[in-house]
Amino acid sequence: MELVPLGPGFGVEVKGIGLLDVATDADAYRAVRSAFEEHSLLVFRDQPVADDVQAAFSRAFGPLELTKVSSLGQNTFYSRLTNTANGKVVPPDHRQVLVAKANALWHTDSSFKKTPALASVLTARVLPEDGGETEFTSTRLAWERLPRDMQARLKDAVATHSYANSRDQIHPDLATEIERRALPPVRWRLNWRNPVNDRRALYVASHAYAIDGMDERDARQLLAQLVDEATRREFVYSHRWRQGDAVMWDNRAMLHRGRPWDYAHERTMVRTTISATLADGLDEVKPPVLH
Ligand code: OGA
Ligand code: MN
Repeated sequence: MELVPLGPGFGVEVKGIGLLDVATDADAYRAVRSAFEEHSLLVFRDQPVADDVQAAFSRAFGPLELTKVSSLGQNTFYSRLTNTANGKVVPPDHRQVLVAKANALWHTDSSFKKTPALASVLTARVLPEDGGETEFTSTRLAWERLPRDMQARLKDAVATHSYANSRDQIHPDLATEIERRALPPVRWRLNWRNPVNDRRALYVASHAYAIDGMDERDARQLLAQLVDEATRREFVYSHRWRQGDAVMWDNRAMLHRGRPWDYAHERTMVRTTISATLADGLDEVKPPVLH
């Protein structure tokens, strides 16, 4: 295995080991897992991209998440991100384009779920000529850049996340009543310690909107400030997709967003998501129960 650095202090291209190796060979898995813990973002090029290959690769890292209600491919392992329906590109005001716009807000996947995500694996199926990059930043490095007193203040701070909060920023009807009911707000500590290397990462997202014990306006302002600082241009890696790419990231330690493209052209991606477990530090990111 060879690791080629990609981003500013995080992210590597993995060479010499592919998705199928990880799915079938314990040594290959261990090598890639350790690269994942260390570098947070892994890019594999020229892969045999298909749903079953992606699921077999992803499953090596932990339990696969089922997609939420009202997703394309609801209650399966495959989250389909596409601006097509019945083989045709949808109009620009279509829900699926709004979903793409919500994905363009800096976020971490599934922080709004009862069980958050360890990692996501995204593959390109149909790409537009231009645009549609996926951008990443390390919230581990963002945490380490914070002044000591801010780290101390945020070490035990707890934020509330909800799916509706990010969707409401795009359109008031984007999150449906069914989704609002199925996905009530959840609370997580504002940092996630990686149990393998002990490094903390800021745990924020477009889904986060409140902080325990803080005025809501102040909390929103602080959260926005933390995201802005984490995502300053010089700290971002922009992934320009090629056919055959598979990209995996650590949702505990990364923020990501999809970039816009000309929505008159198709862009179709498939994501599998791996749930966090106790071994991934889930117990610590859980806040004390409110009473
Ligand atoms: C995702 C996501 C962005 C993109 O799949 O979780 O945010 O570029 N995707 O498609
Ligand atoms: Mn995402």
